[in-house]
Amino acid sequence: MVPVLLSLLLVVSPAVAQDTQDGPYSLSFLYTGVSRPKADIASFQATGFINDQPFLHYDSESRTAEPWPWQVDGMVNWENETQLQQARQDIFMETLKDVMGYYRDRGNHTFKGTFGCEIRNDSYCGAFWKYAYDGRDYIKFNTEIPAWIPLQPEAVNTKVKWETEGSVQASKDYLENECPDMLRRYLQFSRPFLDRQDPPSVSITSRVTLGLIRTLTCVADNFYPQPISMYWTQADSVVETESWGEGPLSENGTYQSWVAVKIPSLDRGPYSCHVQHSSLAQPLTVTWN
Ligand SMILES: *[C@@H]1O[C@H](CO)[C@@H](O)[C@H](O)[C@H]1NC(C)=O
Ligand SMILES: *[C@@H]1O[C@H](CO)[C@@H](O)[C@H](O)[C@H]1NC(C)=O
Ligand SMILES: *[C@@H]1O[C@H](CO)[C@@H](O)[C@H](O)[C@H]1NC(C)=O
Ligand SMILES: *[C@@H]1O[C@H](CO)[C@@H](O)[C@H](O)[C@H]1NC(C)=O
Repeated sequence: MVPVLLSLLLVVSPAVAQDTQDGPYSLSFLYTGVSRPKADIASFQATGFINDQPFLHYDSESRTAEPWPWQVDGMVNWENETQLQQARQDIFMETLKDVMGYYRDRGNHTFKGTFGCEIRNDSYCGAFWKYAYDGRDYIKFNTEIPAWIPLQPEAVNTKVKWETEGSVQASKDYLENECPDMLRRYLQFSRPFLDRQDPPSVSITSRVTLGLIRTLTCVADNFYPQPISMYWTQADSVVETESWGEGPLSENGTYQSWVAVKIPSLDRGPYSCHVQHSSLAQPLTVTWN
């Protein structure tokens, strides 16, 4: 029902890995609706996350809430969740239709909703709920006032409609009570998974391009949580990074990251790649020569 850009919470929250004992932990959902889906593509999709880990998927084709591979038995009541997501799909798609009406739009348009809550030390510590229409922020909820805040002139219509329907108190209750309660319940099952420390496996590849330049790439694979630090040195001085990147969350809930340097192709090194991660008692060093 609400477009949440969970990623904001998620990018910020895992920054201090040592903090996992107290959290923060978040429960959030990302909803996407499309008015004219292509054949065989669902017009509505929902994904639920605990921290950065997806745990629930629902779409308008299957009309069933389904677990991701890491699911802990007993954590989610899938029948209840299926009913809840079906109801939210109806409200969400109805809202998309209304919004298109406010813009006098026809054809293919998208609506995204994100919402969620966060707890730290078992106490509620924040929440968000917002929607975007065709990629532009449309309306968001402010729990302090509380009120729906229009972010486009057309969104005033949505604000008035929802507020007339009594959505303000219901949304505040959901974000500050129901959502944290559900998260506490989920954490009883999922905390070992969320708090786990998977150390990276580190490897180096070497590739000569244009005959004169060698690219050394150091890859860290299959680690969790996401924050990691990687750099190259030669004879104890840091070598300037040529490029770096990180992969998306893998199927089994781990990350990949890499860092590359360019050196003269005849340079035999040695060069060392250093990796620091919360799972490692001390930095890991792998040397190429
Ligand atoms: C409508 O837009 C969505 C999102 O951009 C896209 O996935 C879908 O294929 C589009 N539908 C058509 C019929 O092109
Ligand atoms: C599932 O829904 C039923 C009926 O609404 C409710 O009594 C029950 O507590 C729910 N179970 C869970 C685990 O949420
Ligand atoms: C969480 O609780 C512990 C023990 O009660 C306390 O030491 C810690 O400072 C608290 N952390 C935060 C972020 O409030
Ligand atoms: C995750 O999956 C990759 C292959 O996709 C596998 O190599 C790796 O061992 C898996 N990691 C864990 C922690 O299961």
